[in-house]
Amino acid sequence: MDLLDAITARKSIRAFRPDPVPQSVLQELLEAAIRAPSSMNTQPWEFFVVAGEPLARLKSGNLARLAAGETPRPEHSVTGWPRQSVFRERQVALARQIFELMEIRREDSDKRSQWLARGFRFFDAPAAVIVCTDGQLSPDGPLIDIGAVVQTLCLAALAFDLGTCIEDQGIAYPEVVRAAAGIPAEKRIVTSVAVGYPDWDFPANRLASAREPLAAVTRWCGFDQP
Ligand SMILES: Cc1cc2nc3c(=O)[nH]c(=O)nc-3n(C[C@H](O)[C@H](O)[C@H](O)COP(=O)(O)O)c2cc1C
Repeated sequence: MDLLDAITARKSIRAFRPDPVPQSVLQELLEAAIRAPSSMNTQPWEFFVVAGEPLARLKSGNLARLAAGETPRPEHSVTGWPRQSVFRERQVALARQIFELMEIRREDSDKRSQWLARGFRFFDAPAAVIVCTDGQLSPDGPLIDIGAVVQTLCLAALAFDLGTCIEDQGIAYPEVVRAAAGIPAEKRIVTSVAVGYPDWDFPANRLASAREPLAAVTRWCGFDQP
């Protein structure tokens, strides 16, 4: 696949076929991902790849805490945008798009809860990569490097016909993730990625997420013409 085609084709996958992903494939995928650049080649990433019984425990632990109404306390939070902001507007637009595809009405709280729960069980992916950094590093220092390795992983996944969804929800309850994946205290959990073979019949997987026009997010300096 052409590189630009791959970049355009990548999308978040929110339903997977049950087929397991062989460890050898996940290994090749991660070998490609770690070619990502990092500040001064510090490579401040570590992966805990979870499948089978440990992943089942992770999913059920997440679901139990969600059902108990426990407030998520991730070790790295991506949320926190103002309610009156373009960021919130984009979040709402995404949810509308997903709910329309999934035929979930705004007032249908049962279906909305069921949808929410799917994220906490890694959208039923057969594998999840928990991406950590070393606790000695500053909270935001490694984030650009981690972003680079995660996007590289998501792009490389396409070469194996795999789909991915970067997942905040999966690591909402760090104690659950630590226990299931055996993550030691000195590592900080930054994000997670659901990995598996996409279920292309699932409506939400048809989603084409929106982007602001480039002109709205770009200023050109030193060019004669735009
Ligand atoms: C840091 C990060 C966390 C995310 N967490 C979630 C999540 O918890 N649940 C989810 O459904 N999607 C999650 N996503 C996926 C985004 O919603 C998605 O990337 C965005 O809507 C753009 O869509 P696309 O990936 O299909 O291009 C996350 C993405 C990023 C980068």
